[in-house]
Amino acid sequence: MTPWLSIVGLGEDGLPGLAPAARALLDNAEVLIGGTRHLDMVPDDGRERLTWPSPLGAIVEEIARRRGQRVCVLATGDPMHYGIGVTLAKAVPMDEMVIIPAPSAFSLACARLGWTLSEVEPLTLHGRPLALLHPAIQPGARLLLLSNDAATPDQVAELLRARGYGPSRMVVLEHMGGAKERRLDATAEAWQPGRVADFNTIAVDCRAGPDAALLPRTPGLPDEAFRHDGQMTKREMRAVTLSALQPVPGQLLWDLGAGSGSIAIEWMRSHPCCRAIAVERYAGRIALIAGNAAALGTPGLEIVEGEAPGALDGLEAPDAAFIGGGLRADGNFETCWDRLKPGGRLVANAVTVEGEQALARWRAELGGELIRIAVSRAGAIGPYTGWRPLMPVTQLRAVKR
Ligand SMILES: C[S@@+](CC[C@H](N)C(=O)[O-])C[C@H]1O[C@@H](n2cnc3c(N)ncnc32)[C@H](O)[C@@H]1O
Repeated sequence: MTPWLSIVGLGEDGLPGLAPAARALLDNAEVLIGGTRHLDMVPDDGRERLTWPSPLGAIVEEIARRRGQRVCVLATGDPMHYGIGVTLAKAVPMDEMVIIPAPSAFSLACARLGWTLSEVEPLTLHGRPLALLHPAIQPGARLLLLSNDAATPDQVAELLRARGYGPSRMVVLEHMGGAKERRLDATAEAWQPGRVADFNTIAVDCRAGPDAALLPRTPGLPDEAFRHDGQMTKREMRAVTLSALQPVPGQLLWDLGAGSGSIAIEWMRSHPCCRAIAVERYAGRIALIAGNAAALGTPGLEIVEGEAPGALDGLEAPDAAFIGGGLRADGNFETCWDRLKPGGRLVANAVTVEGEQALARWRAELGGELIRIAVSRAGAIGPYTGWRPLMPVTQLRAVKR
């Protein structure tokens, strides 16, 4: 089918900034769709106009209903960069639409700052939780952040200070490419709140202060990075467990008996597209998991309060499952194995003899690899240093073929 839908990216310079091909699509359209800011740029010539509905998802149906008419959607910058094009490309076949991007806010910001686009960490805080910022805050990292509104730079400065990154340089770029363009420069610690336009993008050159904790994305964060009640897979074992689970971007983990949520959180921190569901039966631990997820930058962690295996009913099938608690409860292991997708990894840790026996039985049935890890940490014994053993852990790793 010949394309009937066009998505045209506009910059702050409006219609005069459009390339001839984009202009032709706009001029020849029978229906125009966009925000009022964009529609107001086009003189009213009687053509049908639609503004974004709320919720935005309804636009997909509206557009699909006009299939065959010449429809032009007006978007900001690059529509495929946190824009409406992402939603529409999932709903309309690509051979039915044409997308003409304008430079994105990230490209414009790099052009202003002399930063290399491929070396910056791009993130959006537009309609998304501020907590997503945490994993990106690393010494020397350069971040480009799409703002939700005028308050976003103030919130970012506060979060950087709270993380010990007060010396970081912030540049707030308002209305790039338009007549109202303006920039504000300050360190996070010197940032004065309340001075910014709603439409802005934030650049951050991360500088760690002397007290900033180093929290890399690789698994095995220090135990103190999590709030916990003692029921937590400890640092060394966590790193080994994540290596067995093998996080892959876009894949889903079930973390059963999540405790503090540390395994699910480290799975999600490994890549922004990794997803996880933490299942925990003790109500007191639900708040711990939620707090850790927010503080460590994985606010999208889904938390299910309840007893497995019943609590697993109706959950999306996982690519990997970790059983850190409730191993001997009837049906947990079987349910995880049944629901696991082909190629999925099941990893289970046991610290009791009974748990270990259960793992040995499962291995006899399903195959897989058993390992045993005993970690000791050195600590003071009077004036001397001695080894304090943690409980040895037996781990079964099985892959569903
Ligand atoms: C929904 S996102 C759309 C991003 C857009 N698709 C792009 O390619 O830049 C909207 C956010 O992008 C940022 N933004 C887009 N264009 C901008 C510009 N010219 N100047 C400053 N910020 C801009 C702002 O943070 C704004 O809140």
